[in-house]
Amino acid sequence: MKTLSRAEVVAQVLEGVPRGEARPSAEAFAPANIALCKYWGKRDEQLNLPITSSLSIALGRLGTRTELSVVEGPDRFMLNGEPVADGQPFAVKASAFLDLFRPRSGLGFDVRTVNTVPTAAGFASSASGFAALVMAMDRLFGWGLDGARLSILARLGSGSAARSVFQGFVEWHAGSRADGMDSFAAALPNRWPDIRVGLVRVHTGAKPIGSREAMRRTVATSTLYRMWPDRAAADLETLRAAIACRAFKVLGETAEGNALAMHATMIDTRPAVLYWLPGSIAAMQRVWALRSEGRPVYFTMDAGPNLKLLFLRDASEAVAGHFPDIEIVQPMDATTTA
Ligand code: PMV
Repeated sequence: MKTLSRAEVVAQVLEGVPRGEARPSAEAFAPANIALCKYWGKRDEQLNLPITSSLSIALGRLGTRTELSVVEGPDRFMLNGEPVADGQPFAVKASAFLDLFRPRSGLGFDVRTVNTVPTAAGFASSASGFAALVMAMDRLFGWGLDGARLSILARLGSGSAARSVFQGFVEWHAGSRADGMDSFAAALPNRWPDIRVGLVRVHTGAKPIGSREAMRRTVATSTLYRMWPDRAAADLETLRAAIACRAFKVLGETAEGNALAMHATMIDTRPAVLYWLPGSIAAMQRVWALRSEGRPVYFTMDAGPNLKLLFLRDASEAVAGHFPDIEIVQPMDATTTA
């Protein structure tokens, strides 16, 4: 089967969907998500099809709210209340994505986006951003797509956006089809109200290399990456079971080990990709010190130097005592933090 373009996939997803007049405007919110079993490596770069399945936890009320309307002329963007100038990477990437959905040429979108993920904290908002955009578009055009189809469309913007269409624990099934119609996320039925995620800021400057290029380089040159598909499959299964029976130690150990294994494949690339800074390692050591004192606290890290801590509600105070600038998120509550 030949590789499809993003436009062909959009046409396939929207086949048979009523395409009436757009409403005047529509709004949607999508949560950010943190992977416990990471997505690292694409089998199709155009369609953001992953080599392995992944599993994440959504960040509740932290994410992106987007309001959308159709306008005459070019696209207009407001990000956190400020206009985004033409040519800015945000505008270029978003317009290229919106090209896939324009009712006719000459029409643009007015996009007003607010990130409730603390932007100063250096945590990526592209996953919740693309998910919120697709969900707002679904309402604007009245498509009424199900979660799987929204997830496929969000994936075309950014891989991890496939998971941001849902709250709670979310599994993104890698799928095997060349057109990616079986590569979408679904929410797990399990809830775990006591789970907490702590956002630890180490550095907020620009990354040395984006995740797309880093993944490409890892898949192409890392010998260690050959172990990744089996490792990810085993970790995913362990995590699913840990979530089902609320085995926190197993969840924490597996998520931390999975993140470190992903970073090991990056370090093994030529030239090496290393997102860690001295502050990242200091924070890891603080987590390990807390654990040696009997506190079940674990970390995970993505394509950047910041840490995300995993712990249970009763450890919140102790964790905050050791990480004074931490932002503690209550993932299973979409309205409050604690
Ligand atoms: O969706 P992207 O292209 O930004 O890639 C995200 C990759 C990681 O954040 C490192 C892992 C993940 O599963 O979210």
